[in-house]
Amino acid sequence: MSLTKEKKQSLIELANTARQHAYAPYSNYPVGSALRTKSGRIFTGVNVENAAYPQTMCAERIAIFKAVSEGEQEFEVITVVTDNGGSPCGGCRQVMAEFGLDTIVLLADGSGKLIKETTVGELLPGAFRPEDLKS
Ligand code: THU
Repeated sequence: MSLTKEKKQSLIELANTARQHAYAPYSNYPVGSALRTKSGRIFTGVNVENAAYPQTMCAERIAIFKAVSEGEQEFEVITVVTDNGGSPCGGCRQVMAEFGLDTIVLLADGSGKLIKETTVGELLPGAFRPEDLKS
């Protein structure tokens, strides 16, 4: 499937709508994510914070974990929407890299404007990957 401008925008809008359910009372930095699998399914996620701060989970990791837990491991595109179009954290880049370096990553701001289009490989050069565990 080719990723048309309309398809990118519709995934960004899904992530931004999901963002309304972010639980971010400590940072006040709500994040929404939506991914499309290579098989065409869509999964969303939001950041879920915790009074014990380190137990917080990022939006894109929740979207990925939801997808994996439902049998999907190949992702065409992952969108991340924040107020300011912020970039995925290192932990999320590592989790994305587990499932493929060619996945497209779209970063958008709270108005739904695409701020950056990149790939997992560009976000995490030299990633430690499953094949690195093989001797
Ligand atoms: N956050 C994400 O959801 N994804 C990222 O890639 C960066 C950070 C969340 C975690 C925390 O709830 C808030 O943004 C501020 O760090």
